[in-house]
This record gives sequence, structure tokens and C-alpha cells, in this order.
Amino acid sequence: MAELLASKAMGTSLRRVDGVAKVRGTAPYAFDHPVENPVYLFPVQATIARGTVSWIDTAEAEAVAGVIAVLTHLNAPRLARSDDAEYAVLQGPGIGFRGQFIAAVLAETGEIACHAAGLVAVGYDIAVHDASFTAGHPGQYTPGQVNGGAVPDTAAGDVEAALAEAAVVLDQTYTTPAGHNNPMEPHSTVAAWEGDSLVLYDSTQGVHAVRQTLAPLFGIAPENIQVAAPNVGGGFGSKGLPHAHVVLAVMAAQCSNGRPVKFALTRQQMFSLAGYRTPTVQHVRLGADGAGRLTAISHEVVELTSRIKEFAEQTAVPARMMYAAPNRRTSHRLVPLDVPVPSWMRAPGECPGMFGLETAMDELAEACGLDPLELRARNEPDLDPETGKPFSSRHLLECFTTGAGRFGWDRRSAVPGGRLEDGWRVGIGAASATYPFYRNPGNAARIAYGGDGTYTVQIGAADLGTGSWTVLAQIAADALDCPLEAVRLEIGDTSLPVASVAGGSSGTASWGGTIIAAADAFRKEHGDRPPAGAATQAAAPEDPEAGRYALHSFGAQFAEVRVHADTGELRVSRMLGVFSAGRIINPRTARSQFIGGMTMGIGMALHEAGIMDPRFGLVVNHDLADYHIPANADVGDVDAIWLEEVDLHAGALGARGIGEIGITGAAAAIANAAYNATGIRIRELPLTAEKFLS
Ligand code: MOS
Repeated sequence: MAELLASKAMGTSLRRVDGVAKVRGTAPYAFDHPVENPVYLFPVQATIARGTVSWIDTAEAEAVAGVIAVLTHLNAPRLARSDDAEYAVLQGPGIGFRGQFIAAVLAETGEIACHAAGLVAVGYDIAVHDASFTAGHPGQYTPGQVNGGAVPDTAAGDVEAALAEAAVVLDQTYTTPAGHNNPMEPHSTVAAWEGDSLVLYDSTQGVHAVRQTLAPLFGIAPENIQVAAPNVGGGFGSKGLPHAHVVLAVMAAQCSNGRPVKFALTRQQMFSLAGYRTPTVQHVRLGADGAGRLTAISHEVVELTSRIKEFAEQTAVPARMMYAAPNRRTSHRLVPLDVPVPSWMRAPGECPGMFGLETAMDELAEACGLDPLELRARNEPDLDPETGKPFSSRHLLECFTTGAGRFGWDRRSAVPGGRLEDGWRVGIGAASATYPFYRNPGNAARIAYGGDGTYTVQIGAADLGTGSWTVLAQIAADALDCPLEAVRLEIGDTSLPVASVAGGSSGTASWGGTIIAAADAFRKEHGDRPPAGAATQAAAPEDPEAGRYALHSFGAQFAEVRVHADTGELRVSRMLGVFSAGRIINPRTARSQFIGGMTMGIGMALHEAGIMDPRFGLVVNHDLADYHIPANADVGDVDAIWLEEVDLHAGALGARGIGEIGITGAAAAIANAAYNATGIRIRELPLTAEKFLS
């Protein structure tokens, strides 16, 4: 087991070190970076869902004053590789989804580029497309694996026999709609070629990942690509890997007479070009004995992927380890469609999957005549049911008992619809939260002593708005046993040692563990009184316990909702999340992460749904007016607390990651509260008003 690093700077609620610059507007985001004589790019997007461009006329666009070039598949540079259809921008006339790039205008201003893009005339050979997602779709198939690398299907014991013998059986289908990442900062890139070298300012969750993705596409060595991303205005996974816009910007910079190219997606373009969460149809069957002990869990999921590039959301994966049923089955089926490419969105898998499973658990509790919290207590596994390994730490029930007292669970009406206050039906509900611990390999950090008492700590990590600038400085201060003021942290640039992407809630643990290892190596090499200029680079430590434990975080989500008896309007008046996620490095930024995830869960529960018009392959509500994300008025009293804990099986830092667990279970807690308020069980998100007017 790792040796515990003592907390001094860690554990304090240090304010964001980048906060003042962000509030004053002086922190540069990707598009803000001043470059000499930039060219602005505006794309032309396909208006059909499938087919080919039969002709394209750019003459009128090219004639506009201020237009520098118009790129199409006929004149765009060839990529060194085009096997990934998402990245094969302008490499041919084929169209795989509505919204795909088919041309791009480079101009002196963004306004000119936008205007001229509208003058590009296009003819199509339209092919029959399919953008209709249904669970019974005949084209569905089993992916080779699901996101995260897990197998698509699992089976343990005999689910059918257990269900046939069960005293209580729950058999229901739950659906979640498409979800679209809407970080405040749109996806944007500034690209410049300097000879054979490429310089990028990109809004990304991982500068090294951008470099590694682009190098083979453009046939150059990774070292010839520099990527900088000092500040990022959110991502939620949509900036975890580059999307087609980065390729287009880099390609355009090959055609701009050496001038840098600036390209920011519009909000509407983000709905087809930045990845999104697949809709899901989840068939959940639970069997229990007379005491409410689960004998069977079956979670069978159908979701979509684009036909041109597979993404398989791991929706049924959490059902493999949550509860102690001896008979279990999980499966994932993908319906390939002519739609934009789905990808990562906060807690892929756990987020939609815990809506189905945790709503089903609430229904099972009622069928068994048990309090929903008692049902969880009766089904708590001793070991990970899937792997048979011990959990490094599993405090799910403690999260529930802690939260129940604080939230006032005893005020929950035992009878659904039993509380009416001033015309509003009031209800309380709960759900489990979980997210796995990932530690990414391949990280390195460098530490150099300045001689004046300061240490420069370098790692090519990212801060996508979560607080990495702040917490990594805290970790470094404790690892070096120096005051915070003595740490000069450098992140967000490929000139720094390689670091993994800020994704999978893995950043702080992966990078922090590497900084601790580098500090140890520095001290071993240079002693306690290092000379000026002393420097050491070290890789992430090997994990001596790798594979011995099941590492997951857990939590309990509580929600109180008010559903108007006449209009069906639903308000979330209170939420409390209680989490067990290992060591918390900075309570202030951690709380922000947790309540941010829960707030995104409110959006998932109440509002967010990408509406695909299958006739056109178009996400019709592709803006923030019609795709509503929670605003202040939607968010009541949301609070998050956590259990004091250090998980040394997760490394010397003892932290398991907090970026995603806050959204898991949140929508189920709200739907369960809505049922408690009204007696109406909604199994289809979002919980819109008409669904309560039966
Ligand atoms: Mo998150 S979806 O792993 O950025």
C-alpha cells in the first residue's frame, strides 16, 4: 500500500489561483490568443443526412471582398490518414450525417467568412438515410467492447430461472434522450504552421492527446506539434479528444498563405460536431426474495452509434457491481444510424445507466414494501459481484445514513401523493451514485528548484474549469513540503512532460500521483538542500497493488421536488449529495464539482433532450433557447458533503476523483422524488409537465 502523503496545503479551501484573472477577463481562452494577422474560418455543413456532394460552386463566395480561400473536397489538402471517418475532413464527397463539414471559407473577418459560406452552392446525390432510433431496430449489433474497454455483455448464474422463482419481480423499460454537452466556451482552435511545425491554441481537456491524434493525420512527428491550453471553459468530455473542427482548422492553415487560422464553432454547430450522449432504452428486470434480497439483476441496453464511427456508451456497466445479486446479466446493443458521431458526456455509462437501475430499485422497494434505503442495505455486497475482488473502500450505506439524517428522510410521506402544500405535491426521493476510479498511465512530471526557495512544477495536464491549477499546486506544496507560495505550477502545454487527458475523473489522481513521485525522486537525487537549478523528471509510479481491488466511488443522492397539482410543473426545491470519493484535496473546488454534477443532473432530469427529426437527420433544438440547460431559476438548494476518507489503495494521494460522480444517480433521485410526490412513475426522461397530467 502506498505511504500517505500528509496534508498541509491539501485539505484547505484555497481559492482558485486563476480566479481573479478569469473574473477580470484577462485569462486567455483558445480563441483569445493574440496571433499575427489571423484568418477566420467559417464552415459549410451538409444539409442532407446521407449521400454525396454531386457538385459544389464556390465562385460567388470567392468573389466576396475579403475572402482568402474556399476549401472543398475538390481542393483541400490530403490527409496522411483518413481511416477515422470523423477526422477525414474534406477528403471526399461522401456525407455521413447532417452537419458534416463539406466546405470552409477563410476570410479577413469572421463576418465575411460567415457571409461567404452562405454563398457556397451545393448539389447532392441524396441517399436513403436512417436517423430513427428505436429499440427494436433490425440493424442493431453487439459492439466488440464498450467505452472504457469493458466487454459488451456479461452473464453470471441463471437470470431467467431466478426471475421465474423470485417472490417479487420488477420488469420495466426506462429511456433517456440524447444529451448535448454545452460548455460555456465553444470548441475553438487557433492553428498556425511554422514550416513543418504546427502551433495550436486549442480548447481541450488534453494537449498531449491533441498532439497524438493530429500527428498521424498530418503525417508529422508529434514533437513537431505544440498545443497550448492554459484555460478551458468547460468540456464535460466533449473536449476530451479533438473533433473534426480541429482537423479542419489545421488543414485550413495549410491554405492561408502562412497566416494563423482562428476557428470557433457556433453553439448550433456544437450540436452536430462536438459529440453527444446517445439516447438509451434500458430494459431492467430485478428479482427479489420475500425479504427484498435481490436474486437477479438484468440490465439490457439499446443505444445508437453513428454509422461512420462507433461509440458504445457503457450504460449497463454499473449494474455489474452495484448490488449483491448472484444472477446477473448485462448487454449493450448499438443501432447504427446516419447521425452525428456520439462521444463522451460527463459519466458516460454510469450517468444514463444509473437512471434506469436506480429508478428500478425505487420501484422494487415499493413492490417489496421496503423503505428504498433499507432495500439498498439488504443488497450491499461484501465483494465486487463482478470480479470477486474486495472493494478498496465502499461506504455507500454510510452515505445514505449520513444523508438521511441531514436531509430529513423521515419527513418523506410513506404514501405517494400524500403531501400537498399550497397546490404543490411535495415528495422526497433518493438514489445511489457511483463512478469507477481510473488512474491513467503514461504521465510524467518535472520539478526544478530555483535557488530562491521556489520550485517549478511542470506537467502537461489541463484545467477545464475544474480547478487543476489550484489543486495540483496544493499537492505539489505538500509533496515538496514547501509553502504554497513557493510552487510555480506549469500545465496546459505540450512543451511540458506528457500527461493524460482530463477525463474519466482521473486527472487529479493521475497527475497528482505523478507529482508526488517526481517530488520523491527530486529529494532522493538532490537531498533536502538542493542547489539552484537542480531538476528531476519522473514518471508516474507503478501501482504495486494493480488489479487487487475494485476501486469505485459511491454516493447517495437525495432530492425534494414540488410538482404543481394543476400544471404538472416540477421544481427541485432541495438536493443533497453525500459522497465517498477518497481524499478531498480542496473542499471549495470539490464542492463545486459535486454540485456542478448534480446541477447537470437536474438538467438531465427536467429539461435536456436532443430532439432528432428523423426525416432530416437534424437535431432540431440545436441552441440554448430550445435545449434548455439549468439556469439559476431552475436550481434550488443544492448541497454536497462527503465522508472524510483516504483511499491508499488508490495511491499516495488517496483520492479517487470527483468530476463525474455528482451527475450519477441525480436524475433517478429526482424521478423517485416525483413519484413520491405524485404517485406517477415516469420512466422516460425528461420529467416534463405533461407527464404529470394523466
Ligand atoms: Mo469526462 S466524459 O471523462 O471528460
